[in-house]
Amino acid sequence: MDNDIAKTLYSQNDIHEACVRLGEQLTTDYADKQPLVISVLSGAVFFTTDVVREMDVYADMDFIDVSSYNGGLESSGNIDLVTDLSTDVKGRDILIIEDIVDTGRTLKYIIELLYKRNAKSVKVCALMDKPTGRKIEVKADYVGFVVPDEFVVGYGLDYKGLYRNLPYVGVLKPEIYE
Ligand code: PRP
Ligand code: MN
Ligand code: MG
Repeated sequence: MDNDIAKTLYSQNDIHEACVRLGEQLTTDYADKQPLVISVLSGAVFFTTDVVREMDVYADMDFIDVSSYNGGLESSGNIDLVTDLSTDVKGRDILIIEDIVDTGRTLKYIIELLYKRNAKSVKVCALMDKPTGRKIEVKADYVGFVVPDEFVVGYGLDYKGLYRNLPYVGVLKPEIYE
């Protein structure tokens, strides 16, 4: 897989440091709450497991599977709810964990769904934020890295379903898409 990568954007160590920093902040902010952590499958699983272990907070966890890229380079604009939560979110303080916020469509869809179901509060922790990609106004409350306008893979992020298990985040060589 390394051969397909043009450059590394965030190394394993960069990611670890971001998780520690975010975990400390979340530990402080959720000290007197018991949040429900919601990880957005599939991309966010890697970041979720690393960042929650840096949070010294009583929290339960659930997963939602939504998808809009279908493995490709561009958001289809359509969000598919593939697998719903199994937890009742009514009255809960929710912390959504995402790998990346790009157009903002995925996040907006999930936030609206949670408020429709009467969540008490909804905050978002995203490893990466790509503000240049935004089509819908939505903001992550906790951000690891602000990323340049490039298609990134690794540490959960895929191209055609692959590269999620790269331990770092990088940019693919152009010939891979061609
Ligand atoms: C990717 C990524 C985020 C979302 C961000 O998920 O993991 O969830 O897109 O893009 P947006 O801000 O433009 O909505 P994807 O739909 O590719 O599903 P996956 O996580 O299963 O790869
Ligand atoms: Mn995703
Ligand atoms: Mg994807």
